[in-house]
Amino acid sequence: MRSLRLIFVTILSLFLTAAPAPAPAPAPASNAEFIHANCEHTLYPEVCYQSLKRYANVVKKDLSRLVQVSIGVSLTRSKLVSPYLENLNRTAQLEPRALAALSDCVSYFSQAEQNMRDSLKQMQQLTGTGEELRYQLDNVLTWIGYARTYQESCTDGFEGEGVSNSDVFGRVEQVKEATSIAIAFVATLVDKAGPVLP
Ligand SMILES: *[C@@H]1O[C@H](CO)[C@@H](O)[C@H](O)[C@H]1NC(C)=O
Repeated sequence: MRSLRLIFVTILSLFLTAAPAPAPAPAPASNAEFIHANCEHTLYPEVCYQSLKRYANVVKKDLSRLVQVSIGVSLTRSKLVSPYLENLNRTAQLEPRALAALSDCVSYFSQAEQNMRDSLKQMQQLTGTGEELRYQLDNVLTWIGYARTYQESCTDGFEGEGVSNSDVFGRVEQVKEATSIAIAFVATLVDKAGPVLP
């Protein structure tokens, strides 16, 4: 768990530096442009826009709603891949080490989904202002960050086991991208909530 924490902090700093805070921009002309503009500040602008534009009229230029939608999309994608991983774990003819990595991955995915649910739940219950709001947003960021860390542990386990070129690796990568996009939006929301109090 301690090493997971370390990986988490490392990964988080990666996203925070890779997704600089957007410069003050003129108000987007349409709901779709709002999503497009925010997607530009993620690591996967094209994937981001293609997967989220259909929610433009739900999001309505509200960053907090965009965060919820993006965590929801990430969770949904994960729940589509999980049964595939579970089935593969039951049936695949693999070397014992690769099979062990796959079994770990099934567990990591399940843990990541729980973290995403926690993150989403906190997001739906942003009741506070000031310091309290900041605390709640930090929870959202922490849990979605943990989810991403568990997903990373899954693919780390695959590497060197001959799984990294496979179909399964690609599917897991798509879930990781969706989660990374959600993290970038949460980080933007945290930025907007103001600096951490001493
Ligand atoms: C993966 O499959 C093995 C062998 O059937 C099983 O023992 C193990 O519990 C499975 N792992 C998970 C996380 O379900």
